[in-house]
Amino acid sequence: VAQAGAAVVVNDLDRGPAEAVVQEIVAAGGRAIAHVADISVWPCAEELIARCADEFGGIDGLVNNAGLAGLARLDELAESDIRPMIEVNLVGTINCSAHAARQMARAGRGSIVNVTSGAQMGAPAMSVYGATKGAVASLTYSWAMELRETGIRVNAVSPTAETRMMDVVADYQRGRGGASKGSSKSLAPETNTPVVEYLLSDFSAKITGQIVRIDGSRLALFAHPGVLLPIVKNPQWTLESIREAFAHDLEGRQLPLGLQCLEISSISDYASQ
Ligand SMILES: NC(=O)c1ccc[n+]([C@@H]2O[C@H](COP(=O)([O-])OP(=O)(O)OC[C@H]3O[C@@H](n4cnc5c(N)ncnc54)[C@H](O)[C@@H]3O)[C@@H](O)[C@H]2O)c1
Repeated sequence: VAQAGAAVVVNDLDRGPAEAVVQEIVAAGGRAIAHVADISVWPCAEELIARCADEFGGIDGLVNNAGLAGLARLDELAESDIRPMIEVNLVGTINCSAHAARQMARAGRGSIVNVTSGAQMGAPAMSVYGATKGAVASLTYSWAMELRETGIRVNAVSPTAETRMMDVVADYQRGRGGASKGSSKSLAPETNTPVVEYLLSDFSAKITGQIVRIDGSRLALFAHPGVLLPIVKNPQWTLESIREAFAHDLEGRQLPLGLQCLEISSISDYASQ
């Protein structure tokens, strides 16, 4: 994004990594400043967005990239596993977006890019993480609808890369005696950035409310969750008639769970599942 000419505020909880990214951008001739804010705290998110406006005269794009992952199956979950993920992934995304949207609405333009995950479709040991990302998808749909008239677009990316977050997955797998899959096919984080750049830019002026999946060489759109057609009608549903519907009209119509659907390469494969 900085390479494409954007001036960037790089925010992180840790100053070190934020400064390192800024140095890289500046060394390559770009403009960037580091900021340290906990996005899960409303006034800190407000300060972060205000810093962008103060330093660069406004905010054209927001990437809600900060995230936290923890793995635990439902029967392993500890209370302390739950709230931090909700606070960062969900509340943090809301905090930054709410403050940015106010600035963007005044300018009559802007692009918000949320970061979700394939885990939103369901993934063992990633229920809470996946739920926060499913919530981020829901925010994306609602905000895109709410803000359509203001010139602000809202989309999301579902990235894949080998990062510190993948160490968490690998540690969990090792802890359970499984072989670590955690390579994320050794994909560098940069493989995801063209999607973010596209969604921030005017090239995607007509795109809003979409979730774009990038997984190395594969680019796809997530299906919007919706009601499956045809709808079965009955003036007064009873336990008996619901049982009947599941035995006939709804039989064989349940969709596959999880990322499994990404392994399906054609509609006919999908139909034969
Ligand atoms: N790596 C993948 O394959 C993958 C897959 C799907 C989704 N994602 C998503 O991509 C995004 C980036 O993840 P990553 O893989 O680079 O992980 P990462 O752990 O390397 O980076 C996450 C960053 O968020 C920062 N952060 C955490 N809490 C914060 C807070 N309260 N305030 C400010 N910053 C905070 C961390 O300091 C860290 O730098 C996340 O939203 C993650 O859920 C990653």
